Amino acid sequence: MSAEPSGLPEKERWGSKLGVVLAVAGSAVGLGNFLRFPGVAVNNGGGAFMIPYIISFLVLGIPIAWCEWTMGRLGGRYGQNNAPGIMYAIWRRWPAKGLGAVAILIPVTIYMYYVLLEAWCLDYCVFFIKGGFAELFQTATADVASRADEITAVVGATGTHFDKTFGTASHGALLESGRTIWLVLICFVVNFFIIYQGVTRGIELFCKWAMPALILCATIILVRVLTLPNISSGLGFMWNPDWERLKDPQVWLEASGQIFFSLSVGFGIILCYSSYLRSNDDVVLTSLSASSTNEFCEVILGGMIVVPTAFLFLGAENAAGSTFGLGFITIPAIMYYMPLGNFFGAMWFGLLFLAAVTSSLSMLQPAIAFLEDGFGLGRRASVSILGIATALGCALTGYFSKGLLALDYADHLINLCMIFAATGTVLIFGWAIGAERGVREMNRGGDFQVPAVIAIMIRYVTPTFLIVILVGWAWTKSADYVDGMNPETRGAQYARAVYEGTIAKHFADDGLTDEQLEAKQLEILGPEEQPAAAAALPQWLSALEQDALQAQADGRKDANVARFVFIGIGAFWLLLVALTDIACRNRIGRTVEQAERDGVGLEEASV
Ligand code: ALA
Repeated sequence: MSAEPSGLPEKERWGSKLGVVLAVAGSAVGLGNFLRFPGVAVNNGGGAFMIPYIISFLVLGIPIAWCEWTMGRLGGRYGQNNAPGIMYAIWRRWPAKGLGAVAILIPVTIYMYYVLLEAWCLDYCVFFIKGGFAELFQTATADVASRADEITAVVGATGTHFDKTFGTASHGALLESGRTIWLVLICFVVNFFIIYQGVTRGIELFCKWAMPALILCATIILVRVLTLPNISSGLGFMWNPDWERLKDPQVWLEASGQIFFSLSVGFGIILCYSSYLRSNDDVVLTSLSASSTNEFCEVILGGMIVVPTAFLFLGAENAAGSTFGLGFITIPAIMYYMPLGNFFGAMWFGLLFLAAVTSSLSMLQPAIAFLEDGFGLGRRASVSILGIATALGCALTGYFSKGLLALDYADHLINLCMIFAATGTVLIFGWAIGAERGVREMNRGGDFQVPAVIAIMIRYVTPTFLIVILVGWAWTKSADYVDGMNPETRGAQYARAVYEGTIAKHFADDGLTDEQLEAKQLEILGPEEQPAAAAALPQWLSALEQDALQAQADGRKDANVARFVFIGIGAFWLLLVALTDIACRNRIGRTVEQAERDGVGLEEASV
């Protein structure tokens, strides 16, 4: 049997092995490595977090990536570079269509908010180059009396800048200056221009210089950080293990979530990228090389820069924030204290911008391939359609910017979709293809052979782990998500927060512990699930009734935004399912049948 399908039109292929490794690593290495990882690790046990993290990498990351690489390369033989077509070629049942649609939904939806972050990285880079932060710090620290006041002033200044840049104060705030719109527009042009050039002349070429450039910049910054006096205290803060945290299931969920996001597995991206390989190109070592590059960037570069430096200059209270807080408030503040801070600040956000672009490109290509393979559209038409669709989604995410609500909610939902997509993928690999047959296909042309035990792992261990994660998620988080979309519950929560805040202030001088304060709040306000009835509250609290009512109204609105995001993503998925169905009945179906007539099939793996 011929190695390449003969009757199908010649498709684009990766130009070199290094190119494909850098393109896939480029997709994986992104803001998740440099911003998300340090925050997640330090808040979930520091060094101890590495245990669930490494287990997730070995049991989830590597096997799922191998499955995706193998299935993608197989789909490429059927003339399919799109996840719905790949899934259809492999397993002609309706769940495969739904899964194929999810594999387009995930990257495209992520792009709609990821590109905003990309624009903000560019914004911060330019602001450093122009000396904007230096000016902010000069004004903020003009009258400070002590080091503690100075830190508060510096972090306060970057916090205010963050709120303004990200439009967190109110919905529509981003439109006020127009600055973000321009930056987002630039990012759109950069991304779509590269995508328009194609896989080899666009994505591969860009990643071939962007990846080394960003690794070089990060290494320079790391060397600077490691030569700071007393940096060992910062490294100790980040990496000293807190073994107790391993008992918390949430820590295990966070570790697996980080592996998914960081390696871009369960995204549909690897399926697409690997379909541009030739039939006998290695997937085993190539996948490992891309994953190892990602881990180097994440653990070594991401894990040793942000948090240790924040601890060193700004103290523990500023070194363990959320992804956004660490990335866009703490880091600029660090640069106030770092010698040559403007230079390193610009370099840091420049490298984040490059890392974000190599990732966002990979979020677009799956949908471009779907439009081309599924509907026979040309590159220009596919780029235009996807450009308009993503611009619309991005505009809505950017408009609902208060507290980054829409972005946050979309991210949570998409993370959940990733776990479903990954579960579906390994189940199809392990049970529909058959794990042994699948592993034989995986080993085709391999630079080394995957041991047979991997088949058992893919069939039993990985799906079990994924199902445990899904159950764990349902157990610990689903109620919060549902409540977040319920106007009455959310309104009551917001109103209660107003009262709780005032109670905390009222008793601030009494030196109550957190537990005592919580008990006090419960005693005064009643059970948590009930909104506080202002009439029954002490006089000093009932004066807040108007504020509480306002907060309640805000909570209702926010719940509606969350609902809107949920319904929007659901409707988008249904649309993609319908498009998948149409394409599979027509163009994709015809191409796959033609490939089969040409003798393409899994059995080739054994010849
Ligand atoms: N894997 C990409 C990141 O880590 C999405 O940012």
